[in-house]
Amino acid sequence: MIKLTSVSKEYPRRGAALRDVSFEVRKGEFVFLTGHSGSGKSTTIRLAHFADRPTSGEVRVSGYSSERLPERDVWKIRRRVGCVFQDFRLLPGRTALENVAFALEVTGTPSKAIGPKANRLLSQVGLAAKAGAPVNELSGGEQQRVAIARALVSEPVVLLADEPTGNLDDRATRGIIDLFFELNAMGMAVLMATHDLELVRAHPHLRVLELDQGRLVFDSAGEAR
Ligand SMILES: Nc1ncnc2c1ncn2[C@@H]1O[C@H](COP(=O)(O)OP(=O)(O)O)[C@@H](O)[C@H]1O
Ligand SMILES: [Mg+2]
Repeated sequence: MIKLTSVSKEYPRRGAALRDVSFEVRKGEFVFLTGHSGSGKSTTIRLAHFADRPTSGEVRVSGYSSERLPERDVWKIRRRVGCVFQDFRLLPGRTALENVAFALEVTGTPSKAIGPKANRLLSQVGLAAKAGAPVNELSGGEQQRVAIARALVSEPVVLLADEPTGNLDDRATRGIIDLFFELNAMGMAVLMATHDLELVRAHPHLRVLELDQGRLVFDSAGEAR
């Protein structure tokens, strides 16, 4: 699903954000990506979303390669890969339903199908009752649910999440993680960047990748991969 092979990423004047990173996330896997602030987590998520390209090495996601996919075709990846962020990135002043509906519109959903599908997605993330609420009047946990519903519009096979619980309290965090588990149980691969070690330790059965200064220093699945 996601495969990084000897990936390095250098930013002008900043040196290397990632150094020779290789790992693979398979279909239906749930993986935590951990590491201190500045270790390269967000860079990894951006590369996996093709929001940026590696300086060297290859990123493959859902069959597409960073070496071969032209910039004008990046939307094809976005149809297969959903992404959510710490700061939600919703349209302020719009309702939960409008936020999801807008994403459906952009992906070419026939207009008659948009309303029912947006409502169904909001139900899926446990937010049916708040469909008509402006997103800025929702709690952080609820806003993240809207963002997740929006990420699901194209029925992705991979969900990327960059510190999705970074702005949430413990209770909302558990709710979001449980929702990720539900989506994962339906077959979606999840790569979730977090510096919250407590959260990672609370799920010892899940695979953990750890970055340190741009290097992959630990993979709980071992060297065999
Ligand atoms: N757009 C950018 N331009 C320059 N340097 C960047 C940029 N994004 C990240 N960096 C640098 O790359 C390194 C890794 O950052 P990042 O991937 O955001 O780490 P994390 O998400 O683990 O905190 C840091 O040193 C950061 O300053
Ligand atoms: Mg980050």
